[in-house]
This record gives sequence, C-alpha cells and structure tokens, in this order.
Amino acid sequence: MMQPAAVALGLRLRVLAEGPDVSAAQVITPAPVGAASDAEALVAFARECDAVTFDHEHVPTGLLAAMAEVTSVQPGAEALVHAQDKIVMREKLTALGVPCPRWARVASPEDVEGFAAGAGWPVVVKTPRGGYDGKGVLVVDSAADLRSGPAADVLAEWFARGELLAEERVPFTRELAALVARSPSGQAAAWPVVETVQRNSICHEVTAPAPNLSDDLAAEATDIALRIAGGLGVTGVLAVEMFEVERDGVVDVVVNELAMRPHNSGHWSIDGAVTSQFEQHLRAVLDLPLGSPEPRAPWTVMVNVLGPASIEARHADLYRSYLHVMAHDPGVKVHLYGKEQRPGRKLGHVTVYGSDLEQVRERARHAAAFIAGEIDE
Ligand SMILES: Nc1ncnc2c1ncn2[C@@H]1O[C@H](COP(=O)(O)OP(=O)(O)O)[C@@H](O)[C@H]1O
Ligand SMILES: [Mg+2]
Repeated sequence: MMQPAAVALGLRLRVLAEGPDVSAAQVITPAPVGAASDAEALVAFARECDAVTFDHEHVPTGLLAAMAEVTSVQPGAEALVHAQDKIVMREKLTALGVPCPRWARVASPEDVEGFAAGAGWPVVVKTPRGGYDGKGVLVVDSAADLRSGPAADVLAEWFARGELLAEERVPFTRELAALVARSPSGQAAAWPVVETVQRNSICHEVTAPAPNLSDDLAAEATDIALRIAGGLGVTGVLAVEMFEVERDGVVDVVVNELAMRPHNSGHWSIDGAVTSQFEQHLRAVLDLPLGSPEPRAPWTVMVNVLGPASIEARHADLYRSYLHVMAHDPGVKVHLYGKEQRPGRKLGHVTVYGSDLEQVRERARHAAAFIAGEIDE
C-alpha cells in the first residue's frame, strides 16, 4: 500500500521481503528475500537505500543499529523499541505520565496472582515481543486457571521464554486510535481520532472520526499521541491504540499499545483523507514537509476482509465477489492484498466515505462481508 504513494511522489521503493510471494514483493521490485532477523541480509539491503523504514516492528533492536551505520533508519532503534517491546513501552509511557492500565512485569504464575490481588481478576497477560492480531495476548480469569488448564499451559510456555506483561482488564466502552506522523525535524500532523472494533483481538472495522467523541476528549487523545511521538523521538507514522473508559460518569482514555508504522487503524486514510498514512509516512521518514491529514468527507468507514472460517469453493476466488461488489456499489473502494486465504487472515479491506454515517457503515460492511463470503446477497 506504500507503493502507489511512492510512485506519486517520484520515489523508488525496494523491499526486503520475507518470501518471494509476499504482498509487497508482488508490487515492488527489486525485492530481495531475507528474514527480519538476518543481519547480513539487512545490512546488504540497507547499503542500497538512502533511507530504510518498516512495515512491521519485529527487526531485532541490535540489527537496527547495524543498519543505522550504513544508512538513515527511520524510526530509529531508540524510538522503535517502544513498539517492539510492550514492557519497555509501559515503562516509558508511565515515566512520561501517559495514562495506562495498571500493569506489572511478571516472571511466574505466582507473580500474576500477586498482581491480581491488587488489580483484580481477570488479568490480561501479554508476551512483550512478537505479538500481533491477539497472538501473544491471554486473558486469565482466575487463580485456578493459573494452575491448570489451557491458560496455564500457554503461560508455562511463555514464561519459559522470559518475563511477561500483566495488565488489569480494562472495562472499556470502546477502542479508539490516535494516528499522528512526525518528521525528524519535529513537524507533526494528526488525523482525526478513530473508533476501532476488534473481534477476537483482530481489527475489524474503523470509523473516522470516532462517532460521539467530545471535542475535549478528541483533543486529549491527539495530545497524548503527539506527546508520545515527541517524547520518544518517533519518525514516521505513530498509531496509539487506546481504550475509552467511563469512571463515575467521566469519560477518559488510557493507552493500550503503540505501532510505529502505517497501521490498520489508518487504512481509511488511503481513500478518506487528503494525505494517506502511507504517503505521510514516506514524507515523514524523508523529512519532507507533511501533507494535510484532513478527511475528504464527514465520515469514512473501513472494514477488513478477513479470511473466512471455512473456505467454500464459491469464495475460493475473491475477485469473483469483487465484481459483484463493484457493480452493486460504485462508491466502494476495494483493496485486496494478494494473500493466500487463511481463516481470520487480513486479506484486504474496503472503504466507503460520505455524509450519512449509518449508510456509509452499512455499505462498507456489506461489501466486506460479501467479498469474505459471509453473505451472498
Ligand atoms: N488490558 C486490556 N484490557 C482489556 N482488553 C485488552 C487489554 N489488552 C488488550 N486487550 C484487547 O486485546 C486486543 C489486542 O491486544 P494488543 O495488546 O493490542 O495486542 P496486539 O499486539 O495483538 O494488537 C486489544 O485491541 C483489546 O481488544
Ligand atoms: Mg493492538
């Protein structure tokens, strides 16, 4: 999704791909193949680039430094580590005075139980590194579940690899995301705060701007994201996932986690904003003046196309349903990623924008459900 923006800006992208068939390698050449943990491949790749950036956070911190010796790496390792490691992130956000759920570093089931004594059950336990789409997030309901059963088994495996992050389970009213971009020289731009809906911890739907969000809370959420971007020296796009909470009638936000790259909560901006998150990321990491993050319409809704639970022959080819969707509603923007179908995998997304939120949402949901094969009318 960064390639069309690069073409328009007159920039040449190259991609270090995890495999020859991954989405990015289908549309960007050259696309040498190399793992994110392969020091030699990373440095050889970096030598060929004027600047290097990322579409996931999982390049080991030490290897970022090796790349930074041969080219400009944006965001830098000192910033990126806060999106790589959820414990480092919690420590830093707490130091910056950013509102977070109650949390603790835990090394054993006993530590989890000790944390729950103060924070209450259930407890959300997370692997500090390597998680995405809910992989690496476990809700533990009770002390008994720590001792035996599926949760205990998962935890035993995770603890064998190191410390974990424990968090109170936040009784959120909804999830929000504040998306901003920051350039090395410190210019920043913020898109409107969006509402995100996760199912099974996977992002499903995003509405921009978040409906019924007061101007004050939108400003506070944006301010938190800009403070984090500045405080951590972020360059490029920063997505701050947040929980909206209501305590004693007062609505507030606490920060869930950070992503330092174009993020699913910003895909709506490709069609729905004057400057998409992909264009803005390129402008930011190259220290070019940033573009306007203004929305094109009062409402934009993005719905992910997820791989169906069971793949019937009828939907084996997503492009057949794509034809129907195009004919049915010419205002729908469909994006497919050229990925092989797997249950729950993000295969693409659709975006609709307009002035009637209910209609926009209905059209986007219908198109995504049709392409995913959840409905056939
Ligand atoms: N402390 C928490 N309280 C309540 N729900 C949570 C908490 N942490 C995570 N979740 C839920 O799990 C989802 C995934 O967790 P997250 O830490 O964002 O992991 P990932 O890296 O997989 O996105 C969140 O979007 C939210 O729905
Ligand atoms: Mg998340």
